[in-house]
Amino acid sequence: MSWNARVLVGQSGGPTAAINASLAGVVQTARALGAEAWGMRHGVQGLLADDVVDLARTLPDAASLELLRQTPASYLGSCRYKLPDADADPATYERLFRTLEARRVDAVLYIGGNDSMDTIAKLSAWGARAGSPVRFVGVPKTIDNDLEGTDHTPGFGSAAKFVATSVAELGRDASVYDLPNVLVVEVMGRGAGWLAGASCLARQDGLGHPDLILLPEAPVSEDALVEAVRGLLARKRCVVVAASEGARRPDGSLMCEPPTGAVRTDAFGHAAALSGTGRHLAQLLGERLGVKTRAVELSTLQRCASHLASACDLAEAAALGGVAVRAAAAGETGVMPAIRREGNSPYLVSYGLADVSAVANAERRVPAAWIREDGMDVTSDFADYVRPLVAGEVAPLFVDGLPLHVEPLA
Ligand code: F6P
Repeated sequence: MSWNARVLVGQSGGPTAAINASLAGVVQTARALGAEAWGMRHGVQGLLADDVVDLARTLPDAASLELLRQTPASYLGSCRYKLPDADADPATYERLFRTLEARRVDAVLYIGGNDSMDTIAKLSAWGARAGSPVRFVGVPKTIDNDLEGTDHTPGFGSAAKFVATSVAELGRDASVYDLPNVLVVEVMGRGAGWLAGASCLARQDGLGHPDLILLPEAPVSEDALVEAVRGLLARKRCVVVAASEGARRPDGSLMCEPPTGAVRTDAFGHAAALSGTGRHLAQLLGERLGVKTRAVELSTLQRCASHLASACDLAEAAALGGVAVRAAAAGETGVMPAIRREGNSPYLVSYGLADVSAVANAERRVPAAWIREDGMDVTSDFADYVRPLVAGEVAPLFVDGLPLHVEPLA
C-alpha cells in the first residue's frame, strides 16, 4: 500500500514511558507508506493556534526515531483540553477544520487516553457532518490502563514494571532494621486500580511485599485497614501497603481528602492532583499503631522511568502507532487500534479497531472478581493478566553514565 498524504499527529493527557514509541511507530509507518508526518505542539490546543511542525525537520531519520523511542514524556508536548460541544461552539470546530484544510492534512492521529478519544470522537463527528475528507484516528496510551475496547493500553506495562520493581526494592530497604514498621507506597491511577494492583508482581522477590493493596474500586474503612495492618505486624516486622492515589472510604470520599470532603476536578471532571493518600495513611497508621511509618509517593517517576521500560510495552506501543496509520490510509475514521490478547502462554496479541465513541470518557475498572473479598488485595488472575505486560528489558543508549534523550519539541 502506498499513500501520498499528510498525517498530523498529536499527544495528549499524562505522558508515559511508551508514548514516544507510539509516535515513532506513526512517523515510521507514515514514511514507509510515502506519507508526510507533521506534529501539533501541545495537542489540540496547539492545533487551535496553528502550531504545527514538519517532523521531517525535527525527526529526520531512523537514528532520531530510535532515540525518540527511549525518550520519556511527550515529545510533542501535551494538554488536558476538552473540546466544547459542537452545537454550543461551532466556531471552534470551523477554525480547526480551516487549519486542517490550509495545512493540507489528510489524517489526524491523536495519542492519548479516554479524554483524548473524546477529542477524536468529536472531531470525526464534526468531520462527517461537514463532509470533510480528513480521517481521525486515536492511538491508545495511559499508565492507568483504563481504556475500554482494548485488553490493555501502552504505557501501562512500563509503569507496572517500575511500580513492581520499586515496591520490591523499597520493601527490602524497609526491612533492614529490627523494628516494627509500615511503609505506604502511593501509586497513580485516579479511578482505576490497575497500576496499584500491578504491585502484586513484587511478591516474586520473596519478601511478600506488598502485604496489602488498596484500589479505588474497593473502598475500605480506615478502621479495617488499621486492624489488617495490626494483624500483619503481629506476624512480621515490616508491612508494605501499596495504595492507589484514588483509594476511597466506604462513604465514597478519597483517602487523601477529609471524609466527605469536596474533591477538586479538572476540565474532564476527574479528581485533580490526588497526591496525599500515602502521607495520610502513613500518619494514621503511625498514630493508631505506635510504629515507625514512612510514605513514598512514586508520583511521575512511575510514568517517565524509560530506563526500566517494558520491552513488550514499547513494541506494542510502536505497533499500534503503525496500525493507526494504516487504518487512516484505508479510509477509517473515528476509530482506535486496540490490543486483543490471543493467549497467555505463550503471550500473544493481535490488533483490531475499536469505535472511539465507545472508548471516549468511559473508564474500565478492575473487575470485582480480581479483587480479594476484603478489598485489600488482588487475586492470582490479576497477576496472570499483568505479568506478560512487564516482560522484556530495553537497552537504552547511555552517554557518560546517563541515558540519552531526544530534545523535546515543545
Ligand atoms: O494520565 C494518567 C495520570 O498519570 C494519572 O495516573 C494521574 O492521576 C494523572 O495522570 C496526573 O495528571 P497530571 O499529570 O495532569 O498531574
